Amino acid sequence: MNTIWSKYVQGINTLYFTRKLRFDDMFAAQYKALFALDEKKPFKMLEIGCGPGALAEALHRYYPNAAITAIDRDSEFIRFAKSRETNIDFIEGDATALPFPDHSFDVTISNTVSEHIEPSRFYGEQLRVLKPGGICLVLSARRGIHVTADCLASSEHEKLFWDKVNAVDDSMKRFSVCQYPMSESELPLAMEKYGFHNVRTSYATIDLTPDHPKYSPETAHNIINANRLCALDSIESVLHTLPEHVSPEEIAEMKRLTNAKYDARITQYDRGEKQWDTNVSVTMIVRGEK
Ligand SMILES: C[S@@+](CC[C@H](N)C(=O)[O-])C[C@H]1O[C@@H](n2cnc3c(N)ncnc32)[C@H](O)[C@@H]1O
Repeated sequence: MNTIWSKYVQGINTLYFTRKLRFDDMFAAQYKALFALDEKKPFKMLEIGCGPGALAEALHRYYPNAAITAIDRDSEFIRFAKSRETNIDFIEGDATALPFPDHSFDVTISNTVSEHIEPSRFYGEQLRVLKPGGICLVLSARRGIHVTADCLASSEHEKLFWDKVNAVDDSMKRFSVCQYPMSESELPLAMEKYGFHNVRTSYATIDLTPDHPKYSPETAHNIINANRLCALDSIESVLHTLPEHVSPEEIAEMKRLTNAKYDARITQYDRGEKQWDTNVSVTMIVRGEK
């Protein structure tokens, strides 16, 4: 039973609800053009490091002809993913020792996983399980645009809490998070170095601005509440990673303040008081062939 990522690094809510928005069907055409997969015939697709499964769910909708398998080593993520979607084969397992024979899949795909796994193992295992001519898609988050509404700015109390936490927090190192970061030029070079050819890069931009009239009130609420859930997850994880440095009362107070701020942002939205806060995420897509 491995629950390190879901308990100490990023919670289910953070990974599920932000990705559910980012891979919403309204962005399917953009992703599908960049993935450039031959979807006419049935094909087999493997998602590596699927987390709670939002991308796998989206792929199932985008590609009705695909049989999708998705693997992650965190038991909680796999339990959650299985409880939501039964048409995808969610498996608990290690990306550095994939439990599949050689030449099993037509496509492998991962989102924000490459930076956490030693590259020769990350690419080597995908090369092994892909069929000749198979496609490897590596999605990697790049610097986007993040503008916070005034009502969501940190108070002095919150700043002091995070200063205290950041001074002692070593969880990135302790849990081997982001030990292999790569720049926009290093990523395609690594894919070539580890055996893929015809490598190409592209970028998907997803603009989540709740005040934009193209978004329904439901989607606008979802955008604001996905940010709320990320903020609450970050606070909760401090209780797990640094129990000797924070008390449950401090965590409860931080959560109360966070909920009050996001409630205020929802009220502003409902009253039509535009803030134009935004999250524009940029996802790099590196595509190579075996
Ligand atoms: C940043 S999260 C991304 C999750 C998901 N792809 C998403 O976008 O929501 C990184 C994921 O990689 C998984 N992971 C890290 N190392 C792994 C390994 N060696 N084998 C399987 N999964 C791994 C973690 O459990 C975590 O779910």
